[in-house]
Amino acid sequence: MINSVYSAVQDRYDCGMKYRRCGRSGILLPEISLGLWHNFGDQAPLSRSRDMILHAFDKGICHFDLANNYGPSYGSAEATFGQIMKSDMRPYRDEMFISTKAGYDMWPGPYGNWGSRKYLFSSLDQSLKRMNLDYVDIFYTHRFDPVTPVEETLQALVDIARSGKALYVGISNYPCEILDHAYDYLASRDVPCLLYQGKYNILNREPETRSILAKAKEKGSGFISFSPLAQGLLTDRYLGGIPSDSRAARNASLDKGILTPEFVDRLRRLNGVAASRGQSLAQMALAWNLKDDLVTSVIIGASSTAQIDDNLNAVRNTAFTKEELDLINQIIGI
Ligand SMILES: NC(=O)c1ccc[n+]([C@@H]2O[C@H](COP(=O)([O-])OP(=O)(O)OC[C@H]3O[C@@H](n4cnc5c(N)ncnc54)[C@H](OP(=O)(O)O)[C@@H]3O)[C@@H](O)[C@H]2O)c1
Repeated sequence: MINSVYSAVQDRYDCGMKYRRCGRSGILLPEISLGLWHNFGDQAPLSRSRDMILHAFDKGICHFDLANNYGPSYGSAEATFGQIMKSDMRPYRDEMFISTKAGYDMWPGPYGNWGSRKYLFSSLDQSLKRMNLDYVDIFYTHRFDPVTPVEETLQALVDIARSGKALYVGISNYPCEILDHAYDYLASRDVPCLLYQGKYNILNREPETRSILAKAKEKGSGFISFSPLAQGLLTDRYLGGIPSDSRAARNASLDKGILTPEFVDRLRRLNGVAASRGQSLAQMALAWNLKDDLVTSVIIGASSTAQIDDNLNAVRNTAFTKEELDLINQIIGI
């Protein structure tokens, strides 16, 4: 139970954060957004989750990214967020851009997964209750369902937007082959896709190589990167071993098997490039993501306010020389 008297700092929009326009829309997003996939569930201390959310908001991070199953346990990151909305953030609701998603495993039985209209509508209703919200700013289909007709999933997004439970809609992890149809279906119903959310970082170039970035731009959608730090690999976290409080030690989503001596050597060399730019490895990794206008925002995860502060400094220098970009590619073997 939190007895709050939170009051946001006055200069929250003048402390260095920059805002980028999201495709052809009226929405600006902060270059750095905060995601609640890990570290905000019911197994994390509520006071730390609260500190991170309020700290982020005080630094101009007004976009918070959630999904129905974030935790652990499922639903608990939304419940944490809902508590903080109630105790602290209610006066700031109109300054916040809040997302949620449905598409992965959430509840038992045939209606708690994938892309049916039944699942998307019920899940969003549950999410709104957990988050103590009347509406979300953007609702995503979290992944492509190869069995449900894609028109059923997309029409559910259209109808959700028309119901007012979400102001905008987005798609995440959709394969490039389906993108023309998905963007066009939504646009032709006057509910254009606001954002494509995809994994993009120095180590994972799929949005470039599969033309997902280019397609978003062509269709007037924004692109928002998730796991821009490759879940912490692109930071100093693992340069000297695997800390016991790190994601690799704690959670199966980051397989510690990847941390071979050869891989860690590459991370050290990337860290050297970052140092030559006057940045931490995390800052360089985020700056790399933001180096051109194809990316609207990066969604970071964090386990402390210090990590958020480190990451915020990335926006100070997002320009790269060709030599730096070539060297980064050479280090990771591209
Ligand atoms: N649409 C999708 O399918 C999808 C999938 C995954 C994620 N997402 C979204 O993207 C968000 C971010 O994903 P992610 O958590 O994988 O992002 P990430 O930013 O790549 O990794 C976050 C982790 O990196 C470490 N870290 C962050 N800043 C650091 C710093 N300055 N120095 C050292 N370590 C640092 C922390 O690890 P420790 O916890 O070990 O300290 C933190 O938990 C999620 O919360 C979610 O909102 C969406």
